[in-house]
Amino acid sequence: MLEKPADTDRPLLPALKARWSSRAFSDTLLTDDELRDCFEAARWAPSAGNGQPWRFIVAPRDDAAAFAAALQCLHEANALWARHAAALIVSVAQTVRDDGRPHRTALYDLGQAVAHLTVQATALGLTLRQMAGFSAELARETFAIPQGFEPVTMVAIGRRGDPAGLPETLQAREHEPRRRHPAAQWVFVGRWGQAAWHEPAGDGE
Ligand SMILES: Cc1cc2nc3c(=O)[nH]c(=O)nc-3n(C[C@H](O)[C@H](O)[C@H](O)COP(=O)(O)O)c2cc1C
Repeated sequence: MLEKPADTDRPLLPALKARWSSRAFSDTLLTDDELRDCFEAARWAPSAGNGQPWRFIVAPRDDAAAFAAALQCLHEANALWARHAAALIVSVAQTVRDDGRPHRTALYDLGQAVAHLTVQATALGLTLRQMAGFSAELARETFAIPQGFEPVTMVAIGRRGDPAGLPETLQAREHEPRRRHPAAQWVFVGRWGQAAWHEPAGDGE
């Protein structure tokens, strides 16, 4: 099992340091408890006005019809590896409020819910990879997602597997180092562009 802990500039909570988006999954399915724990974390994410404008459609691999339907929504490059996940999830934002007004922070709130889910999953020893590479139109049609709700990402979740089982090109990518821009490049103090602190140049470029 490949571990790729973040090479952080500051100490982080263990799950934040350990999390990374692997493409290799073991064959093992998730238990109902594991899935429910993940969604409980999403449930307790903050949201504007406590609006909770998120919905999730889960397709566990042992629900063959639902899993195949979800898999079909993925772009081929993602389906290639995501077909081994224990479950596929469609994340959906409520972008239009019940009273018809646009929900300006819906995507932000959904992202926070997924972030919570992600950290909880990592703490449970699970792994996941989020994907923008899917057809939102097909997902809407396949899962009868109503107007006012937007499929935003799909998520492949499961237990980490051996990257040796992936196609060769993906194996190489799986071993690529993880990089980030130094925080001083995007945290400003007082005015735009003024770095909040000075730190040695990272290897994030
Ligand atoms: C909104 C979003 C969309 C993404 N879309 C894809 C995707 O379609 N295919 C893919 O392989 N990875 C996708 N990723 C995974 C990112 O490439 C990955 O999170 C990023 O490279 C950082 O790596 P790390 O998560 O291991 O730190 C996506 C991640 C996010 C948050």
